[in-house]
Amino acid sequence: MCYDCSAKPDEAGASRRSFTRFLAAGAGLTVLAACTPGAPKAVAPSSASPSASPSAAAVTAAASPTAEPPTPAAASPEPSPTPSPSATLPRQFSLTDPASPWLIVNKHRPLVPAAYMPPDLVQPAVAMTVSGEASLLNSTTAAAAEAMFAAAAQDGVSMVLASGYRSYNTQVATYNGYVASRGQADADTASARPGYSEHQTGWAFDIADGNGVCGFQPCFADQPAAVWAKANGHRFGFVVRYPWMFHPITGYYYEPWHLRYIGVEAATDMVNRGIFTLEEYFGVEPAPGYP
Ligand code: DAL
Ligand code: ZN
Repeated sequence: MCYDCSAKPDEAGASRRSFTRFLAAGAGLTVLAACTPGAPKAVAPSSASPSASPSAAAVTAAASPTAEPPTPAAASPEPSPTPSPSATLPRQFSLTDPASPWLIVNKHRPLVPAAYMPPDLVQPAVAMTVSGEASLLNSTTAAAAEAMFAAAAQDGVSMVLASGYRSYNTQVATYNGYVASRGQADADTASARPGYSEHQTGWAFDIADGNGVCGFQPCFADQPAAVWAKANGHRFGFVVRYPWMFHPITGYYYEPWHLRYIGVEAATDMVNRGIFTLEEYFGVEPAPGYP
């Protein structure tokens, strides 16, 4: 059984329930990926760092019967944590500050403060289908979006901004709307609870294709804007935040329209390493559901 792209929209439809039931029946990511030739493989954090080795003091103690007993620290060295792949980049940023491009917000990591509002919201000079706060991004993301949309246009791809910043109060209304129409369990697979959405940070936005086809639907993945963004977004600092088949890690089904800015260095490094989720790249736990 495979994910059916002809099914109803991920954000606007409810036909994913059979898929959800399939998951609930015990089938896992491996089986799902196996049925999907193009599905990306989950990549474990780098294991490049060697496991902790006995200290020189412990080795000496073992070799000499007259040596002082090793201190507990020498006998049982703390295992050194495996550095996340992101640790190799020269510039490092906070994973918890909402103003950081490396902020990780997911079902285990709410925004702090919950009602955070970016101080530098601006409207990017790009084509858009929205107005008001939904047309805004933080200033860094706006500049990157302008560059990306222009590059897409040069390649003959029409891309539009379909949803940008969402305040805490807007997310309350958005999430409650999903719950009202689909029930809470299903809503939680498509819409973040208030205080848990990347849209509230200004670092993320949704795109649509200039032709308007398949907006916020799974079939958007095959539209020119989505294909182009998936292949080129990293050159401007963007990743597809909720990739196909990684919902056990990200907590959300595939959203080919939802782009997240993390900077060119990190986004390019993820592509080069074949890592698809921020959770894996930055070495934080998967967040399939709320605690
Ligand atoms: N659709 C994404 C998960 C959000 O609501 O932020
Ligand atoms: Zn989104």
